[in-house]
Amino acid sequence: MQDRLKQILEESKEQLKKASSMQDAEEVRVKVLGKKGQLTEILRGMGKLSPEERKELGQAANQVRADVEKLLEDTFSQLKEKAQAARFQAEKIDVTEPGKLYELGSKHPITITIEEMGKIFKSMGFTLAEGPEVETVVNNFDALNAGPNHPARDWTDTFYINDEVLLRTQTSSVQVRVLQSQKPPIRVFAPGRCFRCDTPDATHSPMFHQIEGLVVDEGITMADLKGVLDSFAKQMFGSETRTKFRPHHFPFTEPSAEMDVSCFKCGGKGCRVCKGSGWIEILGCGMVHPNVLKVGGIDTEKYTGFAFGIGVERVAMLKYGIDDIRLMYENDMRFIGQFK
Ligand code: DAH
Repeated sequence: MQDRLKQILEESKEQLKKASSMQDAEEVRVKVLGKKGQLTEILRGMGKLSPEERKELGQAANQVRADVEKLLEDTFSQLKEKAQAARFQAEKIDVTEPGKLYELGSKHPITITIEEMGKIFKSMGFTLAEGPEVETVVNNFDALNAGPNHPARDWTDTFYINDEVLLRTQTSSVQVRVLQSQKPPIRVFAPGRCFRCDTPDATHSPMFHQIEGLVVDEGITMADLKGVLDSFAKQMFGSETRTKFRPHHFPFTEPSAEMDVSCFKCGGKGCRVCKGSGWIEILGCGMVHPNVLKVGGIDTEKYTGFAFGIGVERVAMLKYGIDDIRLMYENDMRFIGQFK
């Protein structure tokens, strides 16, 4: 029996030395001291022995139990220390390590252009107006005097949601909403996204931006239109800029015009940007058609107005020398980051 006790102690020592986790050590504890452990069995069997034998073996067994318990305690605390040291190592923070560099974003050239134009119109007393990108066919076409046979209504140009709803093809739809919700004097600008069923190429995109303008008041004439837009052009492209109005047709204005600005690259001599003509077309405009004013219940004998629509991408491309509109929608930071 004494030999068996020695063997148990030796084995425990051996196994605890090899223990690499709390789990290993716990297994040894259960094997030796557990309910059915080796030592427990020996102590339980002592009832059959004579009193002397029992005393002698009892002492020896208790000593072994104490030794094993001590060994276990030491092993547990060593393993705990080891685990803690490993955790500290893993969670170590190097306070001298340089911080991570977070790249600061920058404004998109379209945002910059809209903000710049908005600032100019605000300085002239215009306030911001808004309308939804998903619009009614009525607000996008009918109310703007573009009757059922107008070519722009053809399904090839327009993303229709159903017979009555579409993705607006122009910010002119905001004119209708403003006329129906505000009373003259009206002086608003409305930047926003527009959509047309175009195949993308260097100058076309199915999604693009416009800034709409609308002024309605007593005694508004073509002279006001020219004054405002000429002033806008000079502030946007430089004080040397000259403007030219060419007759055009839009269903919602009468008379209608397109405005050209003298080329801000060459000053009008002719270059690559203006394709040799010295002029660049940047917007459509005109005196608001009485049929459009009537949509807002406005007295067309008393009030007149003018409106304009500027293509934002076109202005941004000309201003920054961007030669492909698609670059603006690729979300490539190397491109966008150039316009800080
Ligand atoms: N909506 C026109 C377009 O998309 C641009 C335009 C022309 C707007 C004349 C106007 C305007 O307000 O008066 O081509």
